[in-house]
Amino acid sequence: MNQIERVLEAIETIAVPNRVVVLTGAGISAESGVPTFRGAGGLWKNYRPEELATPEAFARDPRLVWEWYEWRRELIRGVSPNDAHCALAWFEREIEGRCGFSLVTQNVDGLHRRSGSREPIELHGNIFRARCVREGTGIELPGPLAELPPRCGCGSLLRPDIVWFGEPVPLIGDAMSEASRADVMLVIGTSGAVYPAAGLVSLVRGGLTIEINPDATPLTDAFSASLRSSATAATRPILEALAGRIGACR
Ligand code: OAD
Repeated sequence: MNQIERVLEAIETIAVPNRVVVLTGAGISAESGVPTFRGAGGLWKNYRPEELATPEAFARDPRLVWEWYEWRRELIRGVSPNDAHCALAWFEREIEGRCGFSLVTQNVDGLHRRSGSREPIELHGNIFRARCVREGTGIELPGPLAELPPRCGCGSLLRPDIVWFGEPVPLIGDAMSEASRADVMLVIGTSGAVYPAAGLVSLVRGGLTIEINPDATPLTDAFSASLRSSATAATRPILEALAGRIGACR
């Protein structure tokens, strides 16, 4: 029996869950062609976060920061959600009204929304939004920008609506509340290197926690089961088994 089969069997024996929470990281979008941050080919191998993803970097050189985000925005516009994103959107619809569900993502690529997930909690913001540094008002920026750095109607700079290193994570309270009520938590494609997101799994009390990642992470030992697998190989079978378990009590 392989690792996935063992987890599928374990799902058959758990109590029917009342709440399933999923946390995703850059690894879920890797097979769509979006580079991750750490590991082989990761963005932080070639770029320094302190020069591009901090409030200090933006204050120093807003144009450089925007150029980097424009490059990433263009890259992301050119890719599509993969089967792991689509399976999550399917699962959310499938269990609606029968089980609580929440999708928490560290990704700013918007691929969960594009695949049909309704209200992902985007912990680190969204690369297709900006906000005015003075007024705080948010605006959608779907297309390429004509001028860098872009400005708000009030004349002040717009900044990417991203949570940078050293900044508070406004939605972490919502995510913590979801995690602490989860009976099942699925964690897909995160290195577990960035807190507070990496701390969410430790809030699950007595539930089934499953990690999907081709590599072991510092969090691996904290899970009930850890699958050395890609997101597209493992996500759909796990969610189908969970949906079956939830449906079983109808
Ligand atoms: P990382 O780049 O740190 O980690 C990506 C993880 O995905 C690694 O553990 C890989 O082993 C795994 N991975 C790679 N390919 C995969 C695949 N096909 N299927 C499943 N997993 C795969 O990304 P995050 O943990 O998301 O912050 O990083 C957290 C935060 O650090 C990001 O949100 C970002 C970054 O600085 C902001 O953008 C604000």
